[in-house]
Amino acid sequence: MITRRQFAKTIGLASALGLIESQTAMRAIAADRRSLGYLAYRTASAEGAWTLGRVDGAVPKELNGVLYRVAPGQKETFGVALRHLFDGDAFVSRYAFRDGQVTLRARFVETAARVEERNAGKMLYKEFGTMAPSSADREPLPKNQPNVNVIRWDGRLLGLSEGGHPTSIDLVDLSARGEWDFYGTLPRDVTFTAHPRFDPQTGEGYAWGIRKGEGWALTVYRMQRSGRLKELYAIPQRDFFMVHDVLLAHDHLVFVIPPVRLDVARLLTGQVTVAEAFGYFDSEPTRFVVLRKDGGGAPVTIEHPAAMVFHHGNAFEQDGKLVVDSLLFPDGSVLAALHAFDKDSVAPVTPNVLTRVTLDPARRAVVSRAEEFPRFDARRVGTHARYLYTAALSAARPFAPLEIVRHDLQGGADLRIEAGETRAFGEPVFVPHPGRREEDRGWVLVQGYDARRDETFLEIRDAGTMDFQARVWTGQHIPLGFHGNFYAA
Ligand SMILES: [Fe+2]
Repeated sequence: MITRRQFAKTIGLASALGLIESQTAMRAIAADRRSLGYLAYRTASAEGAWTLGRVDGAVPKELNGVLYRVAPGQKETFGVALRHLFDGDAFVSRYAFRDGQVTLRARFVETAARVEERNAGKMLYKEFGTMAPSSADREPLPKNQPNVNVIRWDGRLLGLSEGGHPTSIDLVDLSARGEWDFYGTLPRDVTFTAHPRFDPQTGEGYAWGIRKGEGWALTVYRMQRSGRLKELYAIPQRDFFMVHDVLLAHDHLVFVIPPVRLDVARLLTGQVTVAEAFGYFDSEPTRFVVLRKDGGGAPVTIEHPAAMVFHHGNAFEQDGKLVVDSLLFPDGSVLAALHAFDKDSVAPVTPNVLTRVTLDPARRAVVSRAEEFPRFDARRVGTHARYLYTAALSAARPFAPLEIVRHDLQGGADLRIEAGETRAFGEPVFVPHPGRREEDRGWVLVQGYDARRDETFLEIRDAGTMDFQARVWTGQHIPLGFHGNFYAA
């Protein structure tokens, strides 16, 4: 008996080998939309460096710089199928743009744990959502996977998860240089976020971690230009908490903390993963925690009806109020769906809602539904920015976004670009045009996956019109993953 997923994999493989017509593969894959998400995120095809010569359209000559992206790069570890979308060793990609030419380098991040498993020839560490096979030698430890985001900071590329310290990676050859503690300023028992935000006025970053040692605490840092962290707050929490992203306004930071808790006693049995020990408590509030970014004053907590959340858009201050844009899920159904990567079907996810919340007095307004990976012009962090770019999801294809959307948050029409029946998009990254200050002058760079070709591409759109500029084919399967960032040359 062959499962639908195995069938789709077999069809895809046979097609890649030229054994069947690609039209047949396209129909088979289109008939099982869940499989497109599986295909787009499954194991990378190869490590290497390539000059990308197959381009539809033309890459703008003014687009010069480097786009780094990272993804969980393998979905099987020595025969163990990984169960969670977040599981898998980090696979980092570097797209370099120069005078209309594009090169790509991509490889796994050689963390100590990855090397240790390779030398042992077996899975030794547990993933976020997958247990390692039991072993008489030792209890499997969690792996710190820098597979969620990559940022350039202080002459390094930092691979970020949020389960531990960042991993330092060479900016050019992408070789791993071990974990990074910001010159000893990140304590050993504090994790580091995957979503620091940067102040465009000062160039400083704002980051946080979960202090796990003597009592849980939300520990907030300024990432100083010296490369060192300065602790701004350590706010005690009565229990485990989850904070994936933050909002940075002109003078304030806003954390949105959903009612997610960890069953620590269950986790300590060693029989379950972190993902299995998560619980979502819809009778409890989601908390908006407002801090001053200069570290002064006490935190202000505003309670809001329960909502699950990963990502936010921008935030700004107006007449003494804070206006924040956030992608709120009305329940915790997304948590189970993320943990069904190895399944042939996934339970429906209640769509999330791009919600504008005005704090003090609290006011909610629904803008649109079912989206992820919001990005905007980083020069406009903390201001009343007009445009927000997102990847639109559907309940039937929760991990294979159908469209990218340019939202006009000042009342204009949204622009939507469809991926197409056998394609999925990732996170749209806004890149400003050099020398132009207008908010929407620039490009949107979005990685995509084409199931018919079983190939990853990078698409370039005009950010002002969303008109097609170029589609650069990689010749590879690079998992779509979650986040990345562009740095101008
Ligand atoms: Fe994220």
